[in-house]
Amino acid sequence: MGKVSVITGGTSGIGRAVAEKILAASAKDDQVIVSYGSNEKRAEEFRESLPGELRERVTTVRADMSSYEKMLKLVQFIREQAGHVDWLVSNAGVSTYARYEDYTFEEWTRIVNTNLSVPVFLIRELRPLMREGGSILLTGSHAGNQAYSSSLVYGVTKAAVHFLAKSLVKELEPLGVRVNAIAPGFIQTAWHEGRSRESYDRINKKIALHRFGETKEVADLAYAILANGYMNGSVVDIHGGYDYF
Ligand SMILES: NC(=O)c1ccc[n+]([C@@H]2O[C@H](COP(=O)([O-])OP(=O)(O)OC[C@H]3O[C@@H](n4cnc5c(N)ncnc54)[C@H](OP(=O)(O)O)[C@@H]3O)[C@@H](O)[C@H]2O)c1
Repeated sequence: MGKVSVITGGTSGIGRAVAEKILAASAKDDQVIVSYGSNEKRAEEFRESLPGELRERVTTVRADMSSYEKMLKLVQFIREQAGHVDWLVSNAGVSTYARYEDYTFEEWTRIVNTNLSVPVFLIRELRPLMREGGSILLTGSHAGNQAYSSSLVYGVTKAAVHFLAKSLVKELEPLGVRVNAIAPGFIQTAWHEGRSRESYDRINKKIALHRFGETKEVADLAYAILANGYMNGSVVDIHGGYDYF
């Protein structure tokens, strides 16, 4: 039976780089299931970018992770398509730059659902499908370690994601499944499209390496954590030395 990896939000940015890394190391009978939110074009472009033999190992599936019902459909799809899961990367996440005083309860709830609540239940639903020796990685954020002024709800959900990784260790122990999180700083993805030169310069001044991270750098770390048989309950920073000097 081949290895089955599931990556949510895997058609762009960090998730895509992780999917590509897993694929590059995959064997013929491995399967990689990549979910995305709504951008069909981006999903198609991701598939098309893969060499033929790797493309055959990938299934892209649309599943809005702000919705409990759509998450359940993704679980059903995984059950039917693969029957088991070895690696799960819970990566889909959203933010807002709205000011706290302008928040609506609906927007707060959408972000909490996408970043935290739905992943909690995704993991619970996939638990019976996880094989012994399996590995789960949650994408947190440095914004969950340090309170940025820019997005209150985002930081709160990512801090919770970090704590979730630690809390799930006990829940997954009977299955022999490990769970960890990564906490990236500023990583160059579509997320930062539209950021002004002035904004890049201001942030780069705070990073000891004076640049945003590359998705490949995060994917290399993600892969190493997923594969390392002794890592469990860890939250690993990758931020180029943000605010350390
Ligand atoms: N970039 C950074 O600086 C940074 C730093 C720290 C942490 N992170 C975290 O890294 C993760 C990925 O971010 P990224 O920068 O790689 O973003 P990205 O390039 O914008 O990619 C986001 C991915 O998530 C999917 N997605 C978005 N909303 C979704 C939803 N409601 N349901 C399901 N999938 C959804 C997108 O699919 P569609 O294209 O179809 O919407 C896409 O595949 C997030 O959890 C983010 O919080 C990013």
